[in-house]
Amino acid sequence: GATADHHFGDAEFVVVANRLPVDKEVLPDGTVNWKRSPGGLVTALEPILRSQTGAWVGWSGIADSNDNPDIEGIDIHAVPLSTQEIAEYYEGFSNATLWPLYHDLLVKPEYHREWWDTYVDVNRRFAEETAKAAAEGAVVWIQDYQLQLVPKMLRMLRPDLKIGFFLHIPFPPVELFMQLPWRTEIVEGLLGADLIGFHLPGGAQNFLFLARRLAGQATSKGTVGVRSRFGVVQVGFRTVRVGAFPISIDSGDLDAKAKSKEIRNRAREIRKDLGNPKTIMLGVDRLDYTKGIDVRLKAISEMLEEKRLDPEETVMIQLATPSRERVESYVQMRAGIEQLVGNINGSFGSVGQPVVQYLHRPVPRDELIAFFVAADVMLVTPLRDGMNLVAKEYVACRSDLGGSLVLSEFTGAASELRSAYQANPYDLEGVKDAIEAAVGQTTADGRKRMRALRRQVMAHDVAKWAESFLGTLASVTETATDANRG
Ligand code: ADP
Ligand code: G6P
Repeated sequence: GATADHHFGDAEFVVVANRLPVDKEVLPDGTVNWKRSPGGLVTALEPILRSQTGAWVGWSGIADSNDNPDIEGIDIHAVPLSTQEIAEYYEGFSNATLWPLYHDLLVKPEYHREWWDTYVDVNRRFAEETAKAAAEGAVVWIQDYQLQLVPKMLRMLRPDLKIGFFLHIPFPPVELFMQLPWRTEIVEGLLGADLIGFHLPGGAQNFLFLARRLAGQATSKGTVGVRSRFGVVQVGFRTVRVGAFPISIDSGDLDAKAKSKEIRNRAREIRKDLGNPKTIMLGVDRLDYTKGIDVRLKAISEMLEEKRLDPEETVMIQLATPSRERVESYVQMRAGIEQLVGNINGSFGSVGQPVVQYLHRPVPRDELIAFFVAADVMLVTPLRDGMNLVAKEYVACRSDLGGSLVLSEFTGAASELRSAYQANPYDLEGVKDAIEAAVGQTTADGRKRMRALRRQVMAHDVAKWAESFLGTLASVTETATDANRG
């Protein structure tokens, strides 16, 4: 029971994420406008945030800003970050230490004690802000690798709360995780939650092993299921549940938009603007080294060289959103990608007809959907990806049962999208074979595969994901409360 009630906020449901669900827009006349960001997480949680007293704790994305944007129906609690905190907590520990460590060491993680100290400080500020926002007994849902210490910090401040944590990126194999100088602190930080969610059973099982090994806690040892057969960690008198909850997208909304006349027309126009090629291939990613953009470009380059692709009949579109542009590994990777694009066009393009069309900018949502509708072959080739929503978005846009999906085995989505043309992204010959099969598929086979993919994506949308996680959180905390009372 709480004593100092006057410290509590009034939110019954609080989402805590590094980023707020809004983007700042400065209009030509200088006025500032906050736009709801179009992400799936916001879409899924918005109805829940609005139906109860909801709050969202996060950073606005701007340095040294005291802006507290107003979004109708959601109480926004901005956590300001200084330039130095952005460098050490966000670019440093989150994106130059944890991100590569959790993605198979694709680049070498940097371990700096000052970065860690700032990560601890910023996580504490998120925990304090959350403690201020939450009503007694509220449900708090903390998101992702930037905030892994918040569950424990928050529980120490507010033992009355029901705390969930979800990791949106892979949870690494134990051998890799053990490199982290602060490995025990991270595991103990997460164990402050009542429910810890991962995309895949494998991540949940890696975590259970570490809870035994590093935190010395008793855990269940059986295999974890998808949205079922949860793992259990006994932390003193508390029981922490660990589960696999693969995230998804707002499938119905995309399906409807992709069917609209405007989008259909725009898709036809895109094909026409490209000179009505036989095959349009598409890549859509944040410009990140985990995405394997280089893999697909190398595959296409070799296939052109070997005349397995005809440059007269093929166009590859790569849409790449700028991301984490001050982190050194991102700067280098961008240079590499742009060189590959230049090489391919220099060798195989002709004037007015480049083979690869590359945009380094975010594309408006409706335009993106039109690209999905226009694409004959969708190339999703990450070296490691927690889920990959782009693969699911493509499928949701193809109610016409056209198109084909080439999908890396090393994405979370691969365990659900079994009917894609799957390949090991480290096996370039295998990737080329998968692309060739996708380009050359018969209409009948393509329709059969797309129908199977759509059954999965349309049935499991992001609302179901949130429901399944929050339902599990509610049931485990109820049991715990009953046990305490009993
Ligand atoms: P990540 O979360 O690592 O960026 P996901 O594939 O899971 O990867 O999600 C990326 C999201 O960003 C998707 O919703 C996708 O549509 C969107 N996105 C990626 N690239 C672009 C782009 N160039 N323009 C617009 N949206 C993009
Ligand atoms: C991934 C992470 C998110 C992150 C997003 C964009 O999806 O899991 O936590 O918000 O990438 O990256 P950014 O660094 O721009 O927030």
